[in-house]
Amino acid sequence: MESYGGPVAEVRGETGRDVDKPKVVLGVSGGIAAYKACELLRRLTESGHDVRVVPTASALHFVGAATWSALSGKPVSTEVWDDVHEVPHVRIGQQADLVVVAPATTDLLAKAAHGLADDLLTNTLLTARCPVVFAPAMHTEMWEHPATRENVATLRRRGAVVIEPAVGRLTGVDTGKGRLPDPAEIFEVCRRVLARGVREPDLTGRHVVVSAGGTREPLDPVRFLGNRSSGKQGYALARTAAARGARVTLIAANSALPDPAGVDVVSVGTAVQLREAVLEAASDADAVVMAAAVADFRPAVYAAGKIKKKDDREPEPITLVRNPDILAEISAERARAGQVVVGFAAETDDVLANGRAKLKRKGCDLLVVNEVGERKTFGSEENEAVVLGADGSETPVAHGPKEALAETVWDLVAERLR
Ligand code: CTP
Repeated sequence: MESYGGPVAEVRGETGRDVDKPKVVLGVSGGIAAYKACELLRRLTESGHDVRVVPTASALHFVGAATWSALSGKPVSTEVWDDVHEVPHVRIGQQADLVVVAPATTDLLAKAAHGLADDLLTNTLLTARCPVVFAPAMHTEMWEHPATRENVATLRRRGAVVIEPAVGRLTGVDTGKGRLPDPAEIFEVCRRVLARGVREPDLTGRHVVVSAGGTREPLDPVRFLGNRSSGKQGYALARTAAARGARVTLIAANSALPDPAGVDVVSVGTAVQLREAVLEAASDADAVVMAAAVADFRPAVYAAGKIKKKDDREPEPITLVRNPDILAEISAERARAGQVVVGFAAETDDVLANGRAKLKRKGCDLLVVNEVGERKTFGSEENEAVVLGADGSETPVAHGPKEALAETVWDLVAERLR
C-alpha cells in the first residue's frame, strides 16, 4: 500500500467512513520549507485525520498541486473561484476542527493578522472557528522585524498558537532563527491542540521553564555518576506548555530526545550547570517545573586524567560532596512575585507521606509524587502520580501517558497563575 495514504483517504471519503475523523486544514504558504509539510500531511492522515490541503499560489512554486492532491486524496485549490457551488471559501473553514499553517510566511502572518482575504487560505482563516496553529518559517531578519513581531502578537492575543521557529540552517548557507521545526514535532503540537478542542491556549503570554533529563557528575574524562531518567516527562511538559501557548525554555540534562517545536532548548550536563541555566531562565519566568533528576551528590575530586586501575592495590573510595538543591533555592528566593514552582518526587516507599514531607521541606507550590522502581516510570511512556499542593490539595492522575500528567500539571499551574 502507498504509505502516503492519499488514495485510501479518497476511498474512505466516498464510502462515508471519513465522517468521524477530525477535520484538519493544512494551509501551506510560499516558503522553501513547504516540502516539509508533506511529512506533516503524511503524519496527520496516517494517524486518522481527514486533511484538506489549502496552499497559496506561491506555495505551488515549491510543491505542486498534484503532490498535495495525491497525498491528501482530495482536490486542491488556491483560489475561491473553483467549485463555487460548494462555497469552499466558507465551508472549509467552518467545518474544520483544526487549521494548521506550515510553513507560515511573514506575508501570510500579516494577512491573517489584518484579516485580508484574497485567496482560499486567507478566507478559510477568517471563517474557521476552531483552534489555529501557525508554524512560521522565514529568514531571521523577517522574523525579528517589528511588523512581524506585532502581527505574531496580534495572532496570539486572538487565541492562535504561533510556534516559535527553530534555530538552524536557513535557505542558503546562513543559519539563525527562522527554521521550520521538525514536522514530527509540529504534528505533536497539532495533536495536543486538537485534543484540547475549543479551549483557548491558556498559557499564552507566559514564560515557563522546565528542567528535564538526568544530570551526570564526572569522575574523570570518561566516567560519570548518573541516573536513569530519560527526560520523557520533562519533554512532555515542554511540548504541552508550547501547545497551550507558552514561551518555553527547556533545560535538558543529557537527553537524547528531539527538540520539541517552539521550545528553546538549553543543554546542560551537571547539577551545577543545571542550576545556573535554571536560575538564568527563571529570572522572568511565570512558572518553573523541576522535572529533572538532579544528582544530590558529586565526586569531591575530578581527576583530569583517566583513573587507572593498579594491579596490586584496591581502588580508592570515591568521596562525594553535596550538590545545591535547586528546587529548594528557587522556591525560597522567587525570582518574581507569584511565580509558581513545581517539583517532582520519585519515591519507592511511603510515597504519600514522603511526598508531603518533601513538599514542605522544598517549599514549592506543587509536588508531583510518583512511585519508582525497577520497571516503573524511568524510561517508560506512561506515568501515574499524585500532585500535592502547598494549599493541602491532592490531585490524583490515573496511570496513563506522560502528556496526560503534563496537562494536569499545567492545569494546576494555570489555576495558580490566574
Ligand atoms: N532537585 C533539585 N536539586 C537537587 C536535587 C533535586 O532541584 N540537588 C529537585 C528535583 O528536580 C525534583 C525534586 O528536587 O523536582 C525532588 O528530588 P528528590 O531527589 O526526590 O529529592 P531529595 O530532596 O533528593 O530527597 P531524597 O533524595 O531524600 O528522596
